[in-house]
Amino acid sequence: DWNMGDFIEETVDKIRKEVGDGKALCALSGGVDSSVAAVLVHEAIGDNLTCIFVDHGLLRKNEGDQVEKIFRDKFKINLIRVNAQERFLNKLKGVTDPERKRKIIGEEFIRVFEEEKKKLGKIDYLVQGTIYPDVVESGTETASVIKSHHNVGGLPEDVDFKIIEPLNQLFKDEVREVGRELNIPEEIVNRQPFPGPGLAIRVLGEITEEKLEIVREADWIFREEIKKAGLDSEIWQYFAALPDIKSVGVMGDERTYAYTIALRAVTSTDGMTADWARIPFDVLEKISNKIVNNVDGVNRVVYDITSKPPATIEWE
Ligand code: XMP
Repeated sequence: DWNMGDFIEETVDKIRKEVGDGKALCALSGGVDSSVAAVLVHEAIGDNLTCIFVDHGLLRKNEGDQVEKIFRDKFKINLIRVNAQERFLNKLKGVTDPERKRKIIGEEFIRVFEEEKKKLGKIDYLVQGTIYPDVVESGTETASVIKSHHNVGGLPEDVDFKIIEPLNQLFKDEVREVGRELNIPEEIVNRQPFPGPGLAIRVLGEITEEKLEIVREADWIFREEIKKAGLDSEIWQYFAALPDIKSVGVMGDERTYAYTIALRAVTSTDGMTADWARIPFDVLEKISNKIVNNVDGVNRVVYDITSKPPATIEWE
């Protein structure tokens, strides 16, 4: 029988012995895996761990501040937050192709990370939140090839440091359990999957600050209402996307010409296949009204009723 407390104790012990007085670095995304890996390594080596959190400006509402609050304030981890929104947006200017977006973001991420790493002097270890399914998947031809993900092995394996992957024998639910045992807040431990390229692949077509703001606000409303309706634990992933279309509407006596928001919510066990979530109509109605009334630039809301396959979970 597998015991979480034993796993933590053994792993912390092992890391402490291996790293000794060496310096470790971790790319923290705020996702479950990198968060649990960071806290685990911090338990072992304290201030000899530094975490770099690259805020590419493509995160959901409040996410950047939340990461700072939890890791710097609560866990007292050495955290460097790099506010790189402008850099990323500049690189993405005029880019509409989904795979190019992913590639640009992946490359820029590595560039920013490397720049910060250089400032820190000698680093002996790099911490990665790789979990068991990542190990298996990246070695085979799977659906991960359909869309290039940049969260597995995305960092260059430089010759002058070693890799620590404390979670590489665990499944996702085990990682969550370890996270709870380490007192990582539920909002991280229970976080729904969020793609590395973030809102860049939820704003279809060219990315602008205005569009990011629209999708961020609509997404926030959607997520709040799903939680209020008590549906969040049944749904695997739920988010707003911004298709690149404007349509005609009417508000008061005025004709409007504004964006459409697409709501996407799916049930799934592993993200490989998914079914669209049967959200009650009255909940959808409330969300639609709230989005149109509160998000400037939106006059229409649609709900995606396609399963995977043939659609994917994300729209890009
Ligand atoms: P799709 O859209 O392919 O998504 O059905 C399956 C799962 O993978 C997530 N996803 C990504 N994750 N980088 C990531 O780290 C990406 O580029 C990426 N694209 C999709 C998606 O959110 C879903 O959970």
